[in-house]
Amino acid sequence: MPTVEHIQESIATQLAATTQTGIALLPIRRRDVGDFIGYCGLIVGRATVEEPEIAYELFRRAHARGYATEAARAVLDAAIATGRTRLWSTVRTWNAPSFRVLEKLGFARDHVSTDDRGELVWLTCVLP
Ligand SMILES: CC(C)(COP(=O)(O)OP(=O)(O)OC[C@H]1O[C@@H](n2cnc3c(N)ncnc32)[C@H](O)[C@@H]1OP(=O)(O)O)[C@@H](O)C(=O)NCCC(=O)NCCS
Repeated sequence: MPTVEHIQESIATQLAATTQTGIALLPIRRRDVGDFIGYCGLIVGRATVEEPEIAYELFRRAHARGYATEAARAVLDAAIATGRTRLWSTVRTWNAPSFRVLEKLGFARDHVSTDDRGELVWLTCVLP
């Protein structure tokens, strides 16, 4: 688990990046309850601001109810509205739920790279 200080630093870095790029990670709230259950959005990550990465993370208690897919679809639509034509995602090989979310959104595997944490699968989605 990362430390609270590490997460605070990474949130500050993300917010600073948003002022430069105009893309962001956004909170996911359930309409009926209004509670915060995770985030989803676009980041430059390992890609570019023109063809950014989609990213998401939800609390465990909110998993497996379709929330990540619903949120990611909304982000995809927003990316289309900005005129973007392609998105990327990088996923560790063990992350079956994330692969499934991307599959449901129409992402396809492009290539695999390796870093100090092991293999990383690159998936891409051409936007209409
Ligand atoms: C990835 C993550 C955001 C998915 O959130 P979620 O709200 O549970 O996703 P959804 O419910 O929209 O869809 C999950 C899909 O994966 C499937 N799934 C879950 N566990 C699975 C497994 N072990 N093997 C195969 N499929 C699996 C679910 O059945 C569902 O597919 P279905 O709709 O066809 O049944 C969530 O697991 C998470 O926060 N993980 C930790 C952070 C993370 O890994 N982020 C992505 C980094 S690349």
